[in-house]
Amino acid sequence: MIRRSISQICRRSWSQINRTNAALSPRNHHRHLHHRYQLHTSSILSHGHLHKPKPGEELHVTFITKDGKQHKYEVAEGDNILDIAQANNLDMEGACGGSCACSTCHIIVDPEYYDEIPEPDDDENDMLDLAFGLTETSRLGCQVKMTKELDGLRVALPAMTRNLQSKDFN
Ligand code: FES
Repeated sequence: MIRRSISQICRRSWSQINRTNAALSPRNHHRHLHHRYQLHTSSILSHGHLHKPKPGEELHVTFITKDGKQHKYEVAEGDNILDIAQANNLDMEGACGGSCACSTCHIIVDPEYYDEIPEPDDDENDMLDLAFGLTETSRLGCQVKMTKELDGLRVALPAMTRNLQSKDFN
């Protein structure tokens, strides 16, 4: 069962890679192959293990889903956006289990908060290149952890965010 789901994940990622192959430089192509290899060897992390925020230390995050609805949650410092979304049954696939080897946890961050998040590393940037509807404030949900600075964070799920602009968060 687990082996089948890993193989499904790999097939899905590989087809994503094939779709973008034409646009890749040889250097980036090598990197994507490297990510494919990682998919075969990484263990799948579990989701939904959120921490209970201590009284008075609750942080807040709002998701804007594809239908335009807003969903606000109280969360703890250190929880990541993928885990929060999945624990609340929002539509975020997270195919690689949070190991930064897919782009199915793509989120669009409210520009007001974007600079408060530590910069993406090379692996995250490579995967973002594969994301549908990439924007200037795109990130991978599994790589964004809640901090005090991010209290009040607003993120949108990408299917409704083509051409998303700052005013869409008003
Ligand atoms: S779940 Fe795959 S990169 Fe975030």
